[in-house]
Amino acid sequence: MPARAGAVDDDTYDPFEAFDHALGADKVRNPYPKFAEVRRTSPVYHGGIWKLFISDEPMAMAYNNVPVYTALSYDAVTQVLRSPGRPFSSSAYADTMGIVMGHSILEMDEPEHAGYRTLLEGVFGKRAMERWEVETIAPTIHHFIDRFAGRGHADLVREFTFPFPVHVITGLLGLPQEDLPKFHRWAIELINVGGDPARGIAASQKLREYLIGVIEQRRKEPKEDMISVLAHAELDGTRLDDEQICAFLRLLLPAGAETTYRSSSNLLFGLLSHPDQLEAVRKDRSLLPQAIEEGLRWETPLTNIIRRTVEDTEICGVPVPANAAIMVCTGSANHDESRWEDPEAFNIFRKRFPPVAFGFGPHVCLGQHLARMETTVAVNALLDRLPNLRLDPEAVDPHITGLMFRSPVALPVLFG
Ligand code: HEM
Repeated sequence: MPARAGAVDDDTYDPFEAFDHALGADKVRNPYPKFAEVRRTSPVYHGGIWKLFISDEPMAMAYNNVPVYTALSYDAVTQVLRSPGRPFSSSAYADTMGIVMGHSILEMDEPEHAGYRTLLEGVFGKRAMERWEVETIAPTIHHFIDRFAGRGHADLVREFTFPFPVHVITGLLGLPQEDLPKFHRWAIELINVGGDPARGIAASQKLREYLIGVIEQRRKEPKEDMISVLAHAELDGTRLDDEQICAFLRLLLPAGAETTYRSSSNLLFGLLSHPDQLEAVRKDRSLLPQAIEEGLRWETPLTNIIRRTVEDTEICGVPVPANAAIMVCTGSANHDESRWEDPEAFNIFRKRFPPVAFGFGPHVCLGQHLARMETTVAVNALLDRLPNLRLDPEAVDPHITGLMFRSPVALPVLFG
């Protein structure tokens, strides 16, 4: 695969490929038949998701000597995610992402979580979103389309969906664009901590050193960016300290970049491989919101999240002991035939029922409206500017792949 835009190759190690590899991108092409087969026998599988496909567990750090279960049905997944911390706790992340991100909102349970959540929801408020759309998101998206619009062909993954979300998130944070390749690399090394712990921890330290400097500057001289807002935000009358802000930023960089790149790639793949539905959206843009939801359901970009049990409990009647790791398979839940008819089909006209791609319950994705807005601006801009956009008929086997994270490796298209 060609080196992707944004990668800094100061040695032969490519963190982007290492991450895809560690998470099974090249090992699992289509997990859905297996999910369906197991789901038909039980809503909960006794074992980790990897055990269904591959024998080795790349995230073994997380499950050292604890029993692992996977919630697969829609009801099992929502039951676990609805929990405020008891019996299913988000502290499961403390042993994985927490090692490199610090104590972020992701690993907090109630009531600690609720205070942070309210504060951060303010940062992602409607007025901020409107400003971001005009000042950052639309210009970023058009900047990337400008590069290939006159050419008649492009790889929409390498040239568009991969680079634009990380530009958006660093733009919103107010980080200098020239440092962006470095951030992108660190962000990926950070979330690949299970695959390469030493690199993950080193990336976390480098990000911290860098970000602490920026936070200090913004405390002295606030600007119109998200770090300035966080540097002056107060929780229970006290300002967030540097470590609290750093933990949030180390979560936000990968959360903002990695998932949105994959979700917009998956939606484009769904539309391009179903030209009648692409044409319908091109002609009637009011169909775009339902197309986005169907893309998120059909090919959920992040298929699994985790929880830990803090007491003996049950999931949909299946007993689960205390201190077990629970993989919560949103990818499987979004294909549950008890909720969606013919779930394997991409159909933007299907009866609508909200998917769980952004999670569910207290931790439901904080950036979901931003992600939807970025995708809306991106797809509208592509359809406005690239007439007769279609998959390149000579493209060799375009497809979506991966287990934990799913997306196409390439999207070669023609237009004009
Ligand atoms: C399509 C794109 C995205 C997907 C599929 C996605 C998915 C998710 C999921 C499944 C969770 C829940 C994790 C859990 O409960 O364990 C989550 C949480 C979160 N997401 Fe996203 N996300 C996306 C985009 C974004 C963006 C653009 C941002 C911010 C810039 C963001 C920031 C966050 C944060 C801060 C949380 C933690 C919320 C909390 O713990 O209360 N996400 N996301």
